[in-house]
Amino acid sequence: MTQPSVPNPGPVCVPCRLAAIGAVVLVLAGGFAYTAGWLTPARLTTSRFINTFEAVAGQPHPGYRRNHAKGLCVEGYFDSNGNGTALSRAVVFAPGRTPVTGRFAVPGGNPSAPDTSSPVRSLALQFQLQNGEQWRTGMNSTPVFAVHTPAQFYQQLLAAKPDPATGKPDPAKLKAFYAANPETLPFQNWVKAHPPSSSLANAAYYGINAFRFTDSADTTHAVRWAMVPETPYAPITDAQKAEKNFLQADLDQRLQNGPLRWHLVLTVAQPGDPTDDATLQWPDARQHIDAGTLVLDRAMSQEDGACRDVNFDPTILPAGIKPSDDPLLAARSAAYALSYKRRTREEALHPEVHQTQANGDHS
Ligand code: HEM
Repeated sequence: MTQPSVPNPGPVCVPCRLAAIGAVVLVLAGGFAYTAGWLTPARLTTSRFINTFEAVAGQPHPGYRRNHAKGLCVEGYFDSNGNGTALSRAVVFAPGRTPVTGRFAVPGGNPSAPDTSSPVRSLALQFQLQNGEQWRTGMNSTPVFAVHTPAQFYQQLLAAKPDPATGKPDPAKLKAFYAANPETLPFQNWVKAHPPSSSLANAAYYGINAFRFTDSADTTHAVRWAMVPETPYAPITDAQKAEKNFLQADLDQRLQNGPLRWHLVLTVAQPGDPTDDATLQWPDARQHIDAGTLVLDRAMSQEDGACRDVNFDPTILPAGIKPSDDPLLAARSAAYALSYKRRTREEALHPEVHQTQANGDHS
């Protein structure tokens, strides 16, 4: 049998091939370096954000969230009354019950910080919808955020970095930041006028960022949401201010007497209301819809509760809810993902460090 003839490839230019391979490697390495921010030290990358959260926290806290590090897990459910279907076709708004995994926390990178380290409390929730979708949200106890853009938030973090001499943020740097960023005024004024709550149970939690809801007729509505407590608000007491972990102790005690409830209140924007600026509240006169009741009936430590390995990325949304044009949302998604990646890696490689902190200075 005759073999088919193979065409002669001609003379091989070995240096040319090596140069081509070298060029490909250089392009790839350049891509990695650019993404990591090594080529553009002034560019705000996600790694730079998370590295700065770590630097501001002082010592490393392996296995913990890089922000809102101090917290606890909760479990419960959401009872929808069906009213939310007027705005969104998301299955969670049909009448019925949706299981919820959640997490209460206080901002900051230190899981052992005193509860008074921030006037803000937070509640993050993951709704497990009947059709397999999820709705994740992270809410703070202020109706507005301090800053408008990710870059401003980064500058705020730098301004709040503790001075090595005192261990506390330099008041002059913070003052200069606020003076240079007047968008922070609504947040500052709100915090001044509303002393922190005496409990995690009697605070309202706001989604702050706007979202786009789509109803069954394909009409889109700009919406913000809040969880409004049934437990009446009371301000923090002087005795509580002296207790490092009063929030968890108070929550455990309240849950022994029965479940805690919040109402999911949806606020609908009017044309012209800003959807891309979390520093601005919409007028009070906007339509509010009570979409149902959140019931929390169990709390667990964050070291072994179900919330530990959840990334409460606010852009994980069911069909019927989409992110708005608020620039904070994409930055949050990227930052939470990297924080999650680092903390779950540490958890997997060194479970003992997390355990040490759990048994450590939490009193
Ligand atoms: C550019 C803006 C922001 C950045 C870079 C940022 C960064 C972070 C990071 C790194 C975490 C830890 C995430 C994890 O490891 O799971 C976190 C947690 C959290 N953030 Fe933000 N954040 C931003 C804006 C906001 C806003 C506007 C809100 C309020 C609506 C918010 C509320 C929360 C809450 C509630 C948590 C705790 C979630 C949990 O309990 O797991 N953040 N943030």
